[in-house]
Amino acid sequence: MGIQYRIPFSFLSFPFLLFVLFTIPSQHCTPTDTLTQSQPISAGQTLISSGQFFELGFFIPSNSSKQYVGIWHKNVPIHDRKVVWVANRGNPLTVTATDSASSSLTIGKDGNLRLLDGMNNTVWFTNVSVHSNNSIAVLSDKGDLTLVDSVSRLTLWESFNYPYDTFLPGMTLGMNTKTGDKRFLSSWLTEDDPSPGKFVCGLSTEAPPQVFIWNGSKPYWRSGPWDGSKFIGIPGDLYGYGDGFDITHDNQQGNVNMTWHVYNTSSVHFVFLTPNGSLKIIYMDEKVKNPYVIWMTPLNRCEIYGVCGPFGVCNENKSPNCECLKGFVPNSIEDWKKGNWAGGCVRKTDLLCQKNTSSLASSGKAQSDGFWKLRSMKLPDHFEYLYSEDSSGCQQWCLSNCSCVAYAYVTGIDCLVWTGGLMDVQQFSLGGNDLYLRLSYSELGKDKKNDEKFIISFTTISGVVLLGAFMYGLHRWRANQRVNKENRRKDFEMADSMDTSELPIIGFDKILAATDNFSTTNKLGEGGFGPVYMGKLEDGQQVAVKRLSSHSGQGVEEFKNEIILISKLQHRNLVRLSGCCIEGEEKLLVYEYMTNKSLDTFLFDATKRVQLNWAKRFHIIQGIARGLLYLHRDSCLRIIHRDLKASNILLDDDMNPKISDFGLARTFQVTQELANTHRVVGTFGYMSPEYVLGGLFSEKSDVYSFGVLVLEMVSGMRNTCFHYHEKYLNLLGYAWKLCRESRASDLVDEVVIDSCSWSEVMRCIHIGLLCVQDHVADRPAMSSVVLMISNEIDLPHPKQPKFTIQSLSDVDLRSQYNKICSDSKASQSIIEGR
Ligand SMILES: *[C@@H]1O[C@H](CO)[C@@H](O)[C@H](O)[C@H]1NC(C)=O
Ligand SMILES: *[C@@H]1O[C@H](CO)[C@@H](O)[C@H](O)[C@H]1NC(C)=O
Ligand SMILES: *[C@@H]1O[C@H](CO)[C@@H](O)[C@H](O)[C@H]1NC(C)=O
Ligand SMILES: *[C@@H]1O[C@H](CO)[C@@H](O)[C@H](O)[C@H]1NC(C)=O
Ligand SMILES: *[C@@H]1O[C@H](CO)[C@@H](O)[C@H](O)[C@H]1NC(C)=O
Ligand SMILES: *[C@@H]1O[C@H](CO)[C@@H](O)[C@H](O)[C@H]1NC(C)=O
Ligand SMILES: *[C@@H]1O[C@H](CO)[C@@H](O)[C@H](O)[C@H]1NC(C)=O
Ligand SMILES: *[C@@H]1O[C@H](CO)[C@@H](O)[C@H](O)[C@H]1NC(C)=O
Ligand SMILES: *[C@@H]1O[C@H](CO)[C@@H](O)[C@H](O)[C@H]1NC(C)=O
Ligand SMILES: *[C@@H]1O[C@H](CO)[C@@H](O)[C@H](O)[C@H]1NC(C)=O
Ligand SMILES: *[C@@H]1O[C@H](CO)[C@@H](O)[C@H](O)[C@H]1NC(C)=O
Ligand SMILES: *[C@@H]1O[C@H](CO)[C@@H](O)[C@H](O)[C@H]1NC(C)=O
Repeated sequence: MGIQYRIPFSFLSFPFLLFVLFTIPSQHCTPTDTLTQSQPISAGQTLISSGQFFELGFFIPSNSSKQYVGIWHKNVPIHDRKVVWVANRGNPLTVTATDSASSSLTIGKDGNLRLLDGMNNTVWFTNVSVHSNNSIAVLSDKGDLTLVDSVSRLTLWESFNYPYDTFLPGMTLGMNTKTGDKRFLSSWLTEDDPSPGKFVCGLSTEAPPQVFIWNGSKPYWRSGPWDGSKFIGIPGDLYGYGDGFDITHDNQQGNVNMTWHVYNTSSVHFVFLTPNGSLKIIYMDEKVKNPYVIWMTPLNRCEIYGVCGPFGVCNENKSPNCECLKGFVPNSIEDWKKGNWAGGCVRKTDLLCQKNTSSLASSGKAQSDGFWKLRSMKLPDHFEYLYSEDSSGCQQWCLSNCSCVAYAYVTGIDCLVWTGGLMDVQQFSLGGNDLYLRLSYSELGKDKKNDEKFIISFTTISGVVLLGAFMYGLHRWRANQRVNKENRRKDFEMADSMDTSELPIIGFDKILAATDNFSTTNKLGEGGFGPVYMGKLEDGQQVAVKRLSSHSGQGVEEFKNEIILISKLQHRNLVRLSGCCIEGEEKLLVYEYMTNKSLDTFLFDATKRVQLNWAKRFHIIQGIARGLLYLHRDSCLRIIHRDLKASNILLDDDMNPKISDFGLARTFQVTQELANTHRVVGTFGYMSPEYVLGGLFSEKSDVYSFGVLVLEMVSGMRNTCFHYHEKYLNLLGYAWKLCRESRASDLVDEVVIDSCSWSEVMRCIHIGLLCVQDHVADRPAMSSVVLMISNEIDLPHPKQPKFTIQSLSDVDLRSQYNKICSDSKASQSIIEGR
């Protein structure tokens, strides 16, 4: 597939036997989500959230004689259930004849939620002051048990503020740096004992924060610092789709909060800290039935904190795992040989600045220290964050301070420096960051010195906590292939009943003549499914001929039907099909020729972009919107384009936009489509999250692509090849950030600033952001978009896109992207394969 996932077993369904839960069969006739003073629940009864997502009740862990009150997912099969929250984790009810029968969860006279044992003793209570005696407890569909004042409707207490070993979407983890309050996960002691175990997981107090798992007070695992969209010490890649984790700072209040949003709230997601210190992300939805562990840490020895000691580096693919960093030797060779690496490594040759000045003076001229670049690293712990505009400032600071041993310049964070031992360093095979290690002159290889010392490459961040929505999405996408195929077949059946006489059939010999036997000089470009040639028919008409490669996997029937679909469409913003040719192996489509080629050849070309002033761009945006509206609504067939992008917008003599390549996608086999989206990653930037995450496609997916296109038109930058101040690699994220900071005007392409109408530009940015909303329901239909573009109407506020503002991290992918971004051929092709 071309994607390197961290956890290859994520697609495998495997048993998830955590704790078998014994609940006494419910005696409630009508399940309710509300507990009132007059309606307590006792063992055997449960509360069920209104949407049937969560259930609260009494449970006895397997192999235990203790009873607890907890919350679990209602829609998970009983044997896969995991208790996500426990009220009385430290004060269990002992199961005796009286207790199991008569313990109850109730609202006391003081309005607090109370758990009473068989003797009416309070085992656990919420301990809040309630002003009215009229509080009620409600179990929400997020799994949050809230105590609400039924008069004022104020929330007095909620279970989400007391997380135990499970982090659910909608919760916040974090801390207050001023008050010292911490909201961490804490593991169960064992799988059948919910009392606090040894392991704790939460954010560190550093800036930027890291997630740690601690074993008691010792660090056990570390995520690496947060770069604004992900933790950089976790390698992995989401192709630009986010995992929904976010960290917010509130400097005035001192709050640092980590939140988690999931793409599809009707599926089961949770993060879970196991009793033995593993952190797992678990995903399940109606179709899977079995929970998947979609991500887990620590997976191998190298992920455990500091296995190789200071200045040691761990490499999972090497044996032994630990090595010393370049220029360092084991602290104790004996220990090292025995596999006891905790002592770490020491420097072979002192740095110049560490040397005794008087001995230095005697040794004569000394060469200055330099930096050795280490690629694909998990950056060490105990960093200091410095603000620096660029990486040379970071390097300067490090050179000027003798205690500085290494630095890194990280996209999204800026400058990190280290002054102590380099702890918990890992060598990744993919992803990771560049670390610049300070070494004395003699340790830097002489030949390498000049290269490595001052190479300041475009460092990027890497690592994302992989999320089920995406992983499973691809999985389901495959599963959906069969369904999609069937749907397509239906389309073809429909097309079969139509009149096919309208489209001229052009003889292959005529096409040969028109294109000079497909001469290379006539070749306009190479799409994913075959080359495109310019040609001149006998009557002098200029045409573009798309020749489908014989290995493109298209059946003649499907091809023919496709032609019929396209030939039925007529709109001035859609490119016209002039004819077709099917002779033997040859399958060709003949289009009207567009003199000004495709939009991307102007928009992303340093010199030609100037010709696209604002009026032209606005005209093109309007034209694309109308063409798309026609496809979605006005044409006799409802067509989803599925591959709208700048290179599929052709321009005629008068720079009128014409959407091309529409509907063609339908004739491609889905497997091929998938394969090709991975090969030509440039198209990825236009794909909506529900397509990538859920395999779902609708007109709103075209709306999404349209939104990307609008933002590209305004900024003159490609969504996917975007980097600005090295902060975000993705145009959408950058656009969102600017709008939130009321600096939307910074987005505008400098070559149109003088020619533009600010109200039009701002409206376009606003519309663009509305079109790229994460959720289908939040995106306007094309009919509204067309209205919005040409009228000064009030527009809804866009919400923050959480799933599409991620940056690209993977080194290999990045180089692919760079290739595509710099490849002029890719942008010149009229009809580019997806
Ligand atoms: C059940 O618990 C007992 C004592 O706590 C322990 O000895 C036994 O191994 C446990 N059995 C299982 C299956 O966990
Ligand atoms: C506990 O309280 C309930 C209601 O207040 C009462 O009916 C019950 O008899 C009490 N049980 C004991 C053992 O005191
Ligand atoms: C209840 O809260 C008060 C004030 O915060 C505290 O002093 C007291 O110890 C708490 N009681 C219990 C049983 O936790
Ligand atoms: C609740 O308060 C009202 C007046 O505020 C009082 O009449 C009622 O008896 C109280 N109920 C309980 C159960 O204490
Ligand atoms: C956690 O720490 C304890 C005590 O330091 C140690 O015995 C135990 O092996 C550690 N657990 C893991 C999983 O590293
Ligand atoms: C962080 O969480 C706390 C507790 O839920 C909340 O009071 C605070 O407003 C949150 N801060 C931010 C910046 O979200
Ligand atoms: C923790 O337990 C799980 C099974 O619940 C196992 O897969 C994992 O390897 C264990 N991890 C450690 C560090 O022992
Ligand atoms: C969300 O999940 C539900 C149930 O699994 C499914 O029916 C629905 O189509 C999903 N929605 C999206 C947008 O993926
Ligand atoms: C520096 O070197 C001189 C002579 O080489 C020696 O006497 C002195 O103790 C050294 N100082 C330190 C701090 O090592
Ligand atoms: C070098 O860095 C350390 C750690 O940040 C700092 O305490 C020290 O003051 C710095 N020294 C100089 C000369 O800047
Ligand atoms: C195309 O090829 C045919 C035979 O292969 C040849 O007769 C003809 O002259 C060629 N035409 C052109 C324009 O090259
Ligand atoms: C578009 O094509 C026409 C005809 O070839 C040409 O006159 C015009 O200059 C082109 N427009 C731009 C902006 O290049």
